[in-house]
Amino acid sequence: MNKTLNIFRKILWRDNMYPPMEIYFPIKKKEIYSYWNDYIESWVDNKIWLYIHIPFCRTKCNFCHCNSLIASNEKINAYLNDLKKEILYFSPLFKNKKISNIYFWWGTPSILSNTQLKDFLWFLFWEFNFMIKVPFCFEAMPETLDYEKIDILKNFWVSRLSLWVQSLNSWVLVNNNRIQDENNLYEIIYYVKNNIDFLNIDIVCWLEWETFESFSTWLKKIILLNPDIIHLYRFNPSETTNFSKLWKKYTQYDIDLREKMYQYGIKILLKSWRKKLRNDDFWFSMDARNMTIVERIENASSNIGFWYTARSNIFWKISYVNSWVYNENIYTNSSYIWYSYDLIEEKHRYVLQNLIDWLSFKQYKNIFWSDFLCDYGNKIKILINKFWKECIIVSDEEIKINFEKIDNIILNTIFFSRNVMNKIKEKYGNKS
Ligand SMILES: C[S@@+](CC[C@H](N)C(=O)[O-])C[C@H]1O[C@@H](n2cnc3c(N)ncnc32)[C@H](O)[C@@H]1O
Ligand code: SF4
Repeated sequence: MNKTLNIFRKILWRDNMYPPMEIYFPIKKKEIYSYWNDYIESWVDNKIWLYIHIPFCRTKCNFCHCNSLIASNEKINAYLNDLKKEILYFSPLFKNKKISNIYFWWGTPSILSNTQLKDFLWFLFWEFNFMIKVPFCFEAMPETLDYEKIDILKNFWVSRLSLWVQSLNSWVLVNNNRIQDENNLYEIIYYVKNNIDFLNIDIVCWLEWETFESFSTWLKKIILLNPDIIHLYRFNPSETTNFSKLWKKYTQYDIDLREKMYQYGIKILLKSWRKKLRNDDFWFSMDARNMTIVERIENASSNIGFWYTARSNIFWKISYVNSWVYNENIYTNSSYIWYSYDLIEEKHRYVLQNLIDWLSFKQYKNIFWSDFLCDYGNKIKILINKFWKECIIVSDEEIKINFEKIDNIILNTIFFSRNVMNKIKEKYGNKS
């Protein structure tokens, strides 16, 4: 039983995924194809967004918890070829659909050379139809950008460029195995602001070697650069980071310092007339939000994701992930894992994803044609009885739960469906 409890404890909110990936199982590509086919035929008006996963990076930063890979140019070319083959398999399904959103993410999409990028974007725009003024979000590491690459992105209607800056402290960057030149960064930011609609900057508080003084100094510099959105992360020393693999210690002193930086960051960002949005974003303009996150979380729209480890979701039908284990010829060795679910589980997915920020009652009704409090009133009552005030904030329009203050197991038992719970118990050997 303890083993199962530990699993429950661990899997809640890993990657914000519900149902948790631990209970996915293999599926054939042609079955996924037919699920998409059914969905597209039966839900003519529904939005679908497109996700492109580029797993490669130039170096592995010590703080990074992402499943990213270092690659030569040949490997990247091979990956792009596989990616295209995979897209060609599915794209005929979408011929009469207008894609509502594009997102390039993960390792470093901007690692693609200018030629690779142009070629791939041409291919993508040939294979899919996009809405006019489709929100197009591209994530980039500043050192991999030049003016020509930014022009290419602009010419393919990238509307939001997200720059991963992380820190401006060069000692911190070098010691985290990250290449970034501050002067080059300013030039890139200036050019992006003149050419792309919206600029986001990602930063992290408490990277190894950071001091409170340096953090507060460079944060003010970032604010003066005036990006449309700033995304502030707390460093998470998870076991997937090189930081943890190198057996570095993350002490209570570090946790307290990180919190001090984080709270200071929030204060300064709010003082700069920004508003706090979901997901630790601080913004000036709602239009600058990452619309993919809005589609994924607030609107529960379906998405097709390509390729290695990319996640896809067909509303009220299935979630699946592409080839979990990377090898250099993923196309011929591809595999898929999936989980299929009914409306109840789709609602659980929605609720768990949204309660972490704010769940809007009106939006819930728009999506599920039913009332949130009718569907979830009993569960909320259980939470209120156990944790009232500490964890739930309710207004006439919205509800939010402070997940940090709730025991994972209690949340799992309240919000995970019976089916999911049983599958987890089956898999981890406890059928009690
Ligand atoms: C998928 S990562 C991509 C990072 C990007 N390639 C870059 O050059 O930094 C997205 C974001 O996760 C954040 N991140 C990465 N490792 C983290 C960690 N261990 N704790 C907290 N945030 C982290 C970083 O701020 C980063 O911008
Ligand atoms: S932080 Fe970004 S560039 Fe560094 S290893 Fe992670 S994904 Fe790659």
